[in-house]
Order: sequence, then C-alpha cells, then structure tokens
Amino acid sequence: MDEQLQHHYTQLADTYDDTWGHRPAYLDWMEEHISRRLRVSPGEWIADIGAGTGLFLRRLLPYATEQTPVVCVDPSAAMLARLPQDPRLHPVQATAEELAAGQVELPCDTVDALVIKEAVHHFTDLDHTLVGLADQLSADGRVLIVTLPPQLKYPLFQTALDRFAAGQPEPESVAAALRKAGLKATTTIEEFPVSIERDRWLRLVANRWMSVLSTFSDTELSSGLEEIAEEHPSPQLEFPDRFAFILGHR
Ligand SMILES: C[S@@+](CC[C@H](N)C(=O)[O-])C[C@H]1O[C@@H](n2cnc3c(N)ncnc32)[C@H](O)[C@@H]1O
Repeated sequence: MDEQLQHHYTQLADTYDDTWGHRPAYLDWMEEHISRRLRVSPGEWIADIGAGTGLFLRRLLPYATEQTPVVCVDPSAAMLARLPQDPRLHPVQATAEELAAGQVELPCDTVDALVIKEAVHHFTDLDHTLVGLADQLSADGRVLIVTLPPQLKYPLFQTALDRFAAGQPEPESVAAALRKAGLKATTTIEEFPVSIERDRWLRLVANRWMSVLSTFSDTELSSGLEEIAEEHPSPQLEFPDRFAFILGHR
C-alpha cells in the first residue's frame, strides 16, 4: 500500500464506522447481499480481504468459531485496530498481494468463503492477485467481490467523479480476472437508495471519506465543496448507491 493510501486510512480509521454505521438499514441490506451469496456453513473458513474495521461482518460472524475465526486481512494497522474485540476474528496485517504471493501465514490451509468489499480497486495487479487468491480456495471455495462501478451517481464534484472513475475497475473486468483465475463468475448489480442530510454529506466529503478525496489538496477540496453546495441546494440529498457483486466459484 503506498504512503498516501496508508495515511488516508490512518486518518479515516477513527471515524470510518460513523460514515454509514448510523444507518442500520444500509448495513443490513449490504450484509444480507453478502451472506446470501457466500452461502457459508458453520465451521467453514472465511477470509475478508481489505476487511478494514470489520463493519460488515455481523452476519458472517455467527458462522465462525474461536477455532475457525474470520481471517481479517488488511495492510492498515489503524483500520484493523478498530475491529471488534472478538475471538472469532483473526486480524492479519498484510496486503492482498502479499497473501496472493503466499508471503502471509494464515491459520487455515484453504479458505471456503473469501470476501473482498470495496478494496479491489486498491490492488496493484488485479489479474495476478486474483489468481493467487483463487489458489487459496478450498474445493468448494467461493469468492465474492463487492465493488462500486466506475460511474457514480453520488453528489460529488466533477473532478472527483472523473478521478474516481479513472481508478475504478469495471465489474466486468473483475469478473474476467476471476475467470482467468479459473473460476466461474457471475455479476449482479444492486442499488440502495441513499437519503442523507446535505450538511452531513458535506462533512463526509470534507473528512475525505472516500480514498479518491485524499488525492485532492485542501484548496481543491474546498472548491469542490463549494461546487457541491451550489449544484445541490436541497437540505436532503437523494441518490442511488449501486454496487456490483461479483461471485466466483470453482
Ligand atoms: C474502503 S475500505 C473497505 C473496508 C471494509 N471492507 C468495508 O467495506 O468496510 C478499503 C480497505 O482496503 C484496505 N486496502 C488498501 N490496499 C489494500 C491491499 N492492497 N490489499 C488489501 N487491502 C487493502 C484499506 O486498508 C482499507 O481498510
């Protein structure tokens, strides 16, 4: 992970869970989409790559035990430090690339259910990394990648939307990478309707809640905030949050 990204997640870690954590309907919606697709059975090994603070793990946790904990892999010590204190969570400080290259020791030989939520855009070599991760799956192993499509409908300023789109892989490229890794892959798009107070949204953007926002200077960000305020005068903002769920299996 490069220094700027490391700094971004160190800065964000303390407030990360507040971003959507006060919206139980969104958390439930996302957790349901993840657990339904992963079809985990009790005692199976689950790994979350780019697990962050573990905000979306509540529905997977009941399948884990102290002997078969959810392996939470993330390069950011600050994010991992916010994982709940639970013996059914096993933090591992590493990148997906290190795991894929076999440089990281896991508490299991193979993984049955692997989830990567909103982290795949950080992988430096998508194809190569997914090949290495797919190699770690058990005979019935599944991998679920949850990612934002490049074209967002968020009320952001235009240069942020453009820069985000430029750095985000298309869901179909992610599915193609899973196929190259020898898996069958299917993609579905799901949409959650967001309604958020404008002031709260502006605070989130000012706090650089998305990593792309950390690539703007303070001056650029303030003029971006002015642009948002001008374009979106309503006190309540409504927009769709669309996610691609890309499921791979042997
Ligand atoms: C947007 S957060 C998502 C966290 C969590 N999956 C969630 O949905 O709440 C992205 C996470 O990916 C991690 N990350 C960044 N580069 C990574 C890499 N190369 N391999 C694995 N994780 C990475 C970051 O440290 C961060 O915790």
